Amino acid sequence: MLQGKRILLIVGGGIAAFKSLDLIRRLRERGAEVTPVLTSGGAEFVTPLSVSALAGQKVSTELFDLNAESEMGHIELSRSADLVVVAPATADLMAKMAGGLANDLASTLLLATDKPVLIAPAMNVRMWLHPATQRNLATLEGDGILRVGPNEGDMACGEYGPGRMAEPMEILAAIGAALSDGPLKGKHVIVTSGPTHEPIDPVRYIANRSSGAQGSALANALAALGARVTFVTGPASAPMPQGVEIHRVETARQMQDAVAAALPADAAVFAAAVADWRVASESASKIKKDGKGGLPVLSFAENPDILATVSKMDKGRPKLVVGFAAETDDVLSNATSKLARKGCDWIVANDVSPATGIMGGAENAVTLITRSGAEDWPRMGKAEVAKRLAARIADALG
Ligand code: C5P
Repeated sequence: MLQGKRILLIVGGGIAAFKSLDLIRRLRERGAEVTPVLTSGGAEFVTPLSVSALAGQKVSTELFDLNAESEMGHIELSRSADLVVVAPATADLMAKMAGGLANDLASTLLLATDKPVLIAPAMNVRMWLHPATQRNLATLEGDGILRVGPNEGDMACGEYGPGRMAEPMEILAAIGAALSDGPLKGKHVIVTSGPTHEPIDPVRYIANRSSGAQGSALANALAALGARVTFVTGPASAPMPQGVEIHRVETARQMQDAVAAALPADAAVFAAAVADWRVASESASKIKKDGKGGLPVLSFAENPDILATVSKMDKGRPKLVVGFAAETDDVLSNATSKLARKGCDWIVANDVSPATGIMGGAENAVTLITRSGAEDWPRMGKAEVAKRLAARIADALG
């Protein structure tokens, strides 16, 4: 998949830069050509010599390197690649990208490029969680920048949390998806996934057992076929998909807003287990026991039905809208009537009775219901279901 592909790899300044050396080696093993650029910060962590030795070509470091300007200008450098990869992407580089700064070679290339850009953020957990970095991230995601990681774990600085750069194999997968020449190339697909959390008060919420595993697998499978995927996820426990644009939400209403913001799309797949109801009036402070044995009474309001809303759009409806139906009884008849009621094109129905072990498990047994009938698929891994469904979506969008 990577044979003959040209990667412009920008190595930023962070301890994770050592992993980028391994990334270069693995990219070249797979036949990719790697043009490395080292920021001055990056050069504090890995040497230009090791980067250029592994890449098999000269490493660019300075904007006003006259030799390089006469051989290959920075504009050309930014455009001669198939993909620009920033690994590690530091908080500083992300801020420069979000703000459109161009005061060194790396940021100038990133501003000048007309190619897709994939970032692998790596930084201290506080820096990652800082509102400024999260704001920059939202801006970059809005600009269509692809991202892989960061992962959660022990950090070189001794803290624990999100901020570790994705592993080289994960970055390779994201690069593969970004460069895919598959049948969904140029198509935009929205995938919702995971449960929603509906607050009762500041510390309690109503949730469900969805892990988000099927949604993540589906997003990976669609990206592997070349789709640009916007992944709108509730608080899921399954690993996030790679090489897709991720929007994290908590409630059904936030999920609806994120889906609306992500439109237009060629297809939308609603794999999220959205809470049908929310607590009508969320308490602003923690509900206390009254000491007399009185029980709180919760009243509910109906959440927006995102699938039905998108299915029934007059203008700008995705060509293909797919819903999921997790049922515990009469799976086929409930799912078939759901197809009609919601107005979607397909329903992927499954039996989530506890005995099946499907909800939160690794396997799924689905029936695909389209307007021309129902197809039972054998029980298989969620990744296999995802691949099969992604292939069907590619056929339908043809
Ligand atoms: O009505 P029910 O929850 O069984 O329908 C399931 C399908 O509808 C799933 O595809 C789910 O993602 C979607 N849904 C939604 N918004 C809701 C409820 C369900 O998009 N509020």
